[in-house]
Amino acid sequence: MSAIPVFAGPPLLGLNLRFLRDPIGMFSQARRDHGDVVQLDLGLAGPLHAVFHPEGVKRVLMNGRRTHRQLLRELLGKGLFTSPSGDDWGRRRRLLTPLFRAERLAAMTPLLLGPLDEALDTRWRTGERIDLATEMKRITVAMMVEATFGTGADVDRTAARAALDFLLGYVDHQLFTFATAPRSWPTPANRRYRTDIAALRRIIGDALVARTRRPGTEPTFLDGLLEHRAGFSDEELVDEVLSIFIAGTETTGTALVWALHLLSLNGEVAEQLRAEVDDVVGQQDPTGDLLRKLRVPRAAVRESLRLYPPAWALRRVLDEPLDVGGHVLPAGARTIVSSYVTHRHPDVWSTPDAFLPERWLSGEERHRFAYFPFGAGAHQCVGNTFAQLEGDLVLTRVAQRFRLDPLPNQPTGTKPAIALTPVPAPTPLLMPV
Ligand code: HEM
Repeated sequence: MSAIPVFAGPPLLGLNLRFLRDPIGMFSQARRDHGDVVQLDLGLAGPLHAVFHPEGVKRVLMNGRRTHRQLLRELLGKGLFTSPSGDDWGRRRRLLTPLFRAERLAAMTPLLLGPLDEALDTRWRTGERIDLATEMKRITVAMMVEATFGTGADVDRTAARAALDFLLGYVDHQLFTFATAPRSWPTPANRRYRTDIAALRRIIGDALVARTRRPGTEPTFLDGLLEHRAGFSDEELVDEVLSIFIAGTETTGTALVWALHLLSLNGEVAEQLRAEVDDVVGQQDPTGDLLRKLRVPRAAVRESLRLYPPAWALRRVLDEPLDVGGHVLPAGARTIVSSYVTHRHPDVWSTPDAFLPERWLSGEERHRFAYFPFGAGAHQCVGNTFAQLEGDLVLTRVAQRFRLDPLPNQPTGTKPAIALTPVPAPTPLLMPV
């Protein structure tokens, strides 16, 4: 057994400031300078352990416990996404799992295509630049609202979209800004949070009641929750909808910003994707069955998620000592794994920094935990197939209608927040196909 290398910071403060300002740079440096298991010195806040090698990631995710996400629970309620490991989490996981079965999701494709087409028809114009961050957020929010309520429901979609859009920004700000005004202060943002969360809860609650009276047949999230609700109160179901909203919107939206941006920079891959779409889908509306036959959009999304995983780090607490590659992490250790760093680990990936979707088409073998954009183990993302469906659909529909030209020499950095976002937001030029 060997001692765990320490990445030390200044006395008392430790690496805290660096952690707040540039966590990804700090993790990357930790691996480069200290190896695959590192103790990060957070000064008075106590140590945080970081593990980067796939085998170590596996051990941490299979053995660690996810703790409370206290702030998120206060802001959004006690749904699956904010629940700590344990019995209540298990009960919620069993409720949500059936909603994400592949055949159910494939049947949702027309519901998702509606808001996507609405955006492309009204706001995307050839010859103009498009702000991908704003657009993908609007589109994924609209798709989520549609997937939840369906077409038949008498729901104020505009209010639901606006409230969700605001809440995503508010939560980001609360979690990732160094100094925020206390939430009890009547600042404009705090007041709006209270009105919007109440409005959204009411919209979801009313739709639940309406659906209970007149059960629907659409494969929406709401119908799924009602079908499998055994023992769940209305209030708990509202929490679950909010949990899906928050876990599944910003993440997917950002993943798509990166995917479209990387495709705009890599014309050859974009052409390969377009050729496949032409061949398999032509000008038809993409359906679940057609999308399943496409390989390149899926590979492009996978590769973007490798380079820029929206959920760039996961935290766990260890209840027992854990041997990781000859280092023993003590019981109680707060531990972090970073998909961003492991996805670019030079021992695992060839040309780790290059965008090469073909690596997903060639049957290349690698460690199961070398790639975990959706997490792994018990808490693995319940919505990963839905996210992939949205990704396939957006890349396919956009390829049918537009070519994206990047802004020359546009620098792209990253801003770690709820999801890892590009800064500045890419604004490609829309060209005719
Ligand atoms: C590209 C898009 C997405 C990414 C990168 C992503 C990533 C993740 C990751 C890394 C986790 C594990 C969290 C942990 O271990 O603590 C997770 C969990 C979760 N995700 Fe996703 N997600 C995405 C899309 C979605 C969508 C579309 C939904 C729902 C419609 C969703 C719902 C959830 C839920 C409910 C959990 C909690 C699972 C549990 O704790 O059992 N996600 N997601």
